[in-house]
Amino acid sequence: MDRNAPIGVFDSGVGGLTVAREIIRQMPDERLVYFGDTARVPYGSKSRETVIRYSRQIIRFLLTKNVKAIVIACNTASAYALETVEKEFDVPIIGVIKAGAVAAVRATRNGKIGVIGTEGTIGSGIYTEVMKQMNPDIEVTGKACPLFCPLVEEGLLHDSVTDEIASRYLSELKGRFIDTLVLGCTHYPLLRSTVGRIMGGDVTLVNPAYETALELKALLAEKELACGCAEDPAADKYRFYVSDLAEKFTAFATSILPRQVKETEKIPIEEY
Ligand code: DGL
Repeated sequence: MDRNAPIGVFDSGVGGLTVAREIIRQMPDERLVYFGDTARVPYGSKSRETVIRYSRQIIRFLLTKNVKAIVIACNTASAYALETVEKEFDVPIIGVIKAGAVAAVRATRNGKIGVIGTEGTIGSGIYTEVMKQMNPDIEVTGKACPLFCPLVEEGLLHDSVTDEIASRYLSELKGRFIDTLVLGCTHYPLLRSTVGRIMGGDVTLVNPAYETALELKALLAEKELACGCAEDPAADKYRFYVSDLAEKFTAFATSILPRQVKETEKIPIEEY
């Protein structure tokens, strides 16, 4: 495996860019190939079988780009597919859930943690399972917020409609006296200011992206796969692929990432 090969990152859409941003911040020398499944978003309301099928196709596509490791920058795909695909493919693969769960258990002071995510992630109960393995006394309250992902995909990050929907979703959690809330969908850090305002300053918001990038860094070091090259200004250091609406994605990615995204290529992902 070539240590200067890129890292593959994927999500159902733009949400995984919050993880890509953190990887770029923590590992500025690494090259990255991002795939956003914009034709088939959202994953959160799809079945386990479907999300596993989509994940396999995307991993097969990323492998054609010779990636040295893959980050499933999507909680839903991590919840449903990670266990299956890590056995099937001969490339290191990590998800985002373990990192977020560890960070939340470390952050809580009163042992009451909330998790917001898609219907798939919350329904899978995976955050509760991982947190309880670390500390069986932790109380976890999950809340699915299915409208958050489409609001983010539509760019409605600061909008009265978003405020209204967020208030309704989060009111249930406010009654549970949680002191820590996991943003358990990679789209949600983009709604951080809205969620933070509604939950109040006493609730710590956990964005698993930071810990995921740390986990990736440790993994690359352990496998002697960390990039040895210096910062490369070449345009193809970061490459972006989607399954639909490439231009819309390019504009969004440019607004999130520290450098301009020049182009995004559309891929017929069903063929992989
Ligand atoms: N961003 C994804 C996640 O972390 C998926 C959102 C969706 O496609 O429903 O779960």
